[in-house]
Amino acid sequence: MEEIRSAAEALRRGELVAFPTETVYGLGADAENESAVRAVFAAKARPPDNPLIVHIGSALQLNQWVTELPEAARVLADRFWPGPLTLVLRRGPRLCPLVSGGLATVAMRVPSHPVALALLDEFGGAIAAPSANRSGRVSPTQASHVREELGAAVCKVLDGGPSEIGVESTIVDVSGSTVEILRPGAVTREQLRAALGEQVRVAAHARGGAPGQYPAHYCPAARVELVQPERLVERARSLREHGERVGVLAQRKEADRARFQAEVGLAAVVPDDLVDFARRLYSALRHLDSMGCTVILAVPPEPIGLGLAIVDRLQRAAGAGA
Ligand code: TXA
Ligand code: MG
Repeated sequence: MEEIRSAAEALRRGELVAFPTETVYGLGADAENESAVRAVFAAKARPPDNPLIVHIGSALQLNQWVTELPEAARVLADRFWPGPLTLVLRRGPRLCPLVSGGLATVAMRVPSHPVALALLDEFGGAIAAPSANRSGRVSPTQASHVREELGAAVCKVLDGGPSEIGVESTIVDVSGSTVEILRPGAVTREQLRAALGEQVRVAAHARGGAPGQYPAHYCPAARVELVQPERLVERARSLREHGERVGVLAQRKEADRARFQAEVGLAAVVPDDLVDFARRLYSALRHLDSMGCTVILAVPPEPIGLGLAIVDRLQRAAGAGA
């Protein structure tokens, strides 16, 4: 396809290309080109010590980019690639150190979106790509989000429609003596356990806890507050009495959209289930922002399966407003 060919050429010239993946949109650069990688950090206003994810077209290419392939990496790549899983491994000499913020390790992923795979195939090399948002903001799940957020800083945006999964990949560190989840995502802790035949640790910062412990990240303009379902109506009323414009994000089983809007005049986004919740999470935060909400009340799901990733992102969004 002509569009893919010209995007691959742009990458070869050291330009940036935003592209769709099944998780969120990425802002891509040639991972071997230091000035291109530098431009990614600049476009996002991302601190240089926050490493990027390196995308490749196939697990067979892994040994070109990393120095060791532990057994756990082989098992997980075989089971979950292409897909929403990122593996942290020892970085090889071909990648510029800047890609991984100077760390000795590098985060690698084979995405499953057909446009991402076509671009990787046409380009032939490795594409360093963080989510295509400005640092600390909500990740883009549609091409229009990327254009709104980064504008002219990106030379090209490939449009692959809305992201199917909606939250960033699961990051698993397989570079050390124990396998550890650094960021929960659509490849769940339960699935990792089944694939490896052992329990997988979730890193302390990714395990849940008080919202205030979370670094400012994934934040919309409105303040996000997590609330249990039984307190939702009462909390919304009290905020409204204090002049706040309240939006609601809660699964259908916990919130009846019509009832909320009738009772307290709220803007509400009501996903059907966990898959729908993840898929719509970031566009819901953007939508409620655009409706002029000053507070978003979010009812977190159970932190099981995909629920763990949703809770993680909601807590980070809430932490940012604290
Ligand atoms: O789904 C995704 O992973 C998306 C799409 C575009 O692939 N990408 C994404 O990239 O979410 P980004 O930059 O927003 O998040 C990358 C995160 C970093 O914030 C960092 O926490 C982690 O990956 N990371 C990268 N390299 C690492 C390393 N060597 N060790 C530990 N964590 C690393
Ligand atoms: Mg990001």
